[in-house]
Amino acid sequence: MSVAIALDGPAGAGKSTIAKRAAKALDFIYIDTGALYRTIGLAASRNRVKPQPSREVDELLSKITVDLTFNDMGEQVVLLDGEDVSGLIRTPEASMMASKISAVPSVRAYLLDLQRDMAKSHNVIMDGRDIGTVVLPDAKVKIFLTASPEARATRRYKELCEKGMDVKYEDILYDVIERDYNDTHRTTAPLKPAEGCITVDTTELDFEQSAEKVISVIKENL
Ligand code: DC
Repeated sequence: MSVAIALDGPAGAGKSTIAKRAAKALDFIYIDTGALYRTIGLAASRNRVKPQPSREVDELLSKITVDLTFNDMGEQVVLLDGEDVSGLIRTPEASMMASKISAVPSVRAYLLDLQRDMAKSHNVIMDGRDIGTVVLPDAKVKIFLTASPEARATRRYKELCEKGMDVKYEDILYDVIERDYNDTHRTTAPLKPAEGCITVDTTELDFEQSAEKVISVIKENL
């Protein structure tokens, strides 16, 4: 029997970096479910399909294939109709499309089996927004990783400044608050702590401390 760990939380809480570290420490496979929504967003952009509930979106879903696989380094690779799009889905436009298309119920239904199948065949740590509530409600450990909007905006601001980008902290904070609102207020699978989850608040912790905390919570509850 495989073991699943669900890691949910708002954008910018550090889920993916922490999940990668935890997966390595525990010898689990890390699955980034946001990449799947990003891939469908890319397919919609390429086919000029609007990211809203419609027959066009449903037709698109019936035409495309989305697969998850892993490269030699054990990193996740997403395939859209057999093409590796792992790099292409990381643009700001792809983030925006993913955010909009992820609110379409048929898109969420389309990705459900793919995510569940991965958890059936591997020990996984899966990160997303609805893993503990919808995708894997029976996960062995469910963690809700969060931090204050200000802490998340500050981390993002520093990251972008280090990349030499000219950004304003206030704009980033506004984006964080807006995305939180969208994620928590959509009708299908809104972001919320799952029943029986353990909340880890990283507002006062740095990356190392956050990763240690998550790994120890998992070990105590496995
Ligand atoms: O985690 P991310 O930023 O790569 O996710 C991209 C978008 O997909 C994000 O706007 C929220 C959405 N998403 C979701 O609705 N459910 C998931 N399980 C994962 C991501």
